[in-house]
Order: sequence, then C-alpha cells, then structure tokens
Amino acid sequence: MTSKEMQEQMVSNLKRWQKIENASVVSTGKVMEKTDHPLLRMVMEIIQRDSQTHYHLQQMIIDSMEVKPFSLTPEDISAVWDLIENHIEIEKSTIEMANEILGNMKAKYLTPQIYLLRYLLKDEEKHNAMLEALEQVKKDIYPYA
Ligand SMILES: [Fe+2]
Ligand SMILES: [Fe+2]
Repeated sequence: MTSKEMQEQMVSNLKRWQKIENASVVSTGKVMEKTDHPLLRMVMEIIQRDSQTHYHLQQMIIDSMEVKPFSLTPEDISAVWDLIENHIEIEKSTIEMANEILGNMKAKYLTPQIYLLRYLLKDEEKHNAMLEALEQVKKDIYPYA
C-alpha cells in the first residue's frame, strides 16, 4: 500500500469510528430517558460527553490529514512547559487524594461510592499519563536536550 492509500484507509476508518461515537451518544441518551437514578445517569452522562470528545478528536486527526496538517514544534511546547509542569503536580495531588480516600475505605463489597472513586482515580491517572506522554513528545523533539 502506498502512503496515500494508507492515509485514505485511516481517514475512512476514523469516519466509521465517528459513526460509532454518534451511536454511543444516542444509546446513552436512551438509558438516561429510562432511569432517574443519579448514579446511573451520571455514568451515562460521562460516557456521552466522552463520546462527543472522541468524535471531535477523530475529526481533528481527519482534518490534519485532509484539510490542514499541523505539527508540534519545540517552541509550542516550551512556551507553556512551566505551566504544564505545575499542572502535572496538581494531577499527582488528585491521584494521591483518590488513593488516600480509597485506602481508608474498608468495605468488603463494591459499594457505589467505591465504584465512583475508582473511576475518578483511573481518570486522574489518565490525565497524568497524557501529560507524561507529552513530556516524551518534547524529549523526542529535543533528543539531545
Ligand atoms: Fe469513544
Ligand atoms: Fe485531573
């Protein structure tokens, strides 16, 4: 396959994926119509919002190949790196908080509270991992720094 064909295939797969994200928005909405339970509604709302974000991200990747390519330069990153480093500290504090609260909860079964706290912990870990990966991008751009 040529690189142009690979790119076209990637775009077509991303568009298929966007249709699935749209189906996810509809499907979570159906669950929300059927329940008033605040926890179940919250879970569906989170997934629905994430699906919308995923759709936008997929569009960003598609546009970068079809409309306007973008690159990440050392200047782009260094202009905000100090602030991002500060933010990484905030994310680490949230992970510590979640672990501290979960560590103090001695429940034998998965309670709704533990279920939500575990989700929060995973989400905070994800934020941290995202920024740490950005640091790796920065290192790859400045291989000798
Ligand atoms: Fe998704
Ligand atoms: Fe966070």
